[in-house]
Amino acid sequence: MKFFLDTANVEEIKRIAKLGLVDGVTTNPSLVAKEGRDFKEVVQEICGIVSGPVSAEVIGTKADDMLKEAFEIAEWAPNVVIKLPMTEDGLFATHALAEKGIKTNVTLVFSAAQGLMAAKAGATFISPFVGRLDDIGTEGMKLVQDLNIILTNYGFTTEIIAASIRNIGHVEQAALAGAHIATIPGSLLPSLWKHPLTDIGIEKFLSDWSKMQK
Ligand code: E4P
Repeated sequence: MKFFLDTANVEEIKRIAKLGLVDGVTTNPSLVAKEGRDFKEVVQEICGIVSGPVSAEVIGTKADDMLKEAFEIAEWAPNVVIKLPMTEDGLFATHALAEKGIKTNVTLVFSAAQGLMAAKAGATFISPFVGRLDDIGTEGMKLVQDLNIILTNYGFTTEIIAASIRNIGHVEQAALAGAHIATIPGSLLPSLWKHPLTDIGIEKFLSDWSKMQK
């Protein structure tokens, strides 16, 4: 499974990229706004750090506006991916961009039908939001499982990005469900490699070693 970082924080991306764990990055308007930086500047900087796909989201809600923004964003870097909302206009724009060979990530996917529509429209990636589905009392990961079956059944090349990931369990379950990618907040990532028993084990080994030195 590939790991994308779900952040627009350049320092976080640089730090984690050094561990060889970053296959790509996803941003959204909320994440970019949090950084208080110019959208183009931050996306270009991220695209220079990470060689994999970097999603940058359009703000327009009408297909014409989405496409205007998309064509501009597509010029920013060779690895930029246009993130579009899962709406009729978003599907129109996704299809138009796919026909021009521009990569897309259809975001805010909350049902298997939506994911299937996005794949048929030619999306490169689809982003089912696991955590936000959990928040409303449904089982978000079931959507990732269903989408994996559907895409496999029909041989779509669209890749599933398990998004809105909130905990280690989500990452493990996304891998088990066959998600191609999990996009993970930088703040969550360390909990994937940390374990209290590892720390206790190191402490014990070092203490035993120091006893031998006396
Ligand atoms: C994915 O591309 C989104 O940016 C992200 O995963 C949303 O997560 P949230 O529900 O924690 O805001």
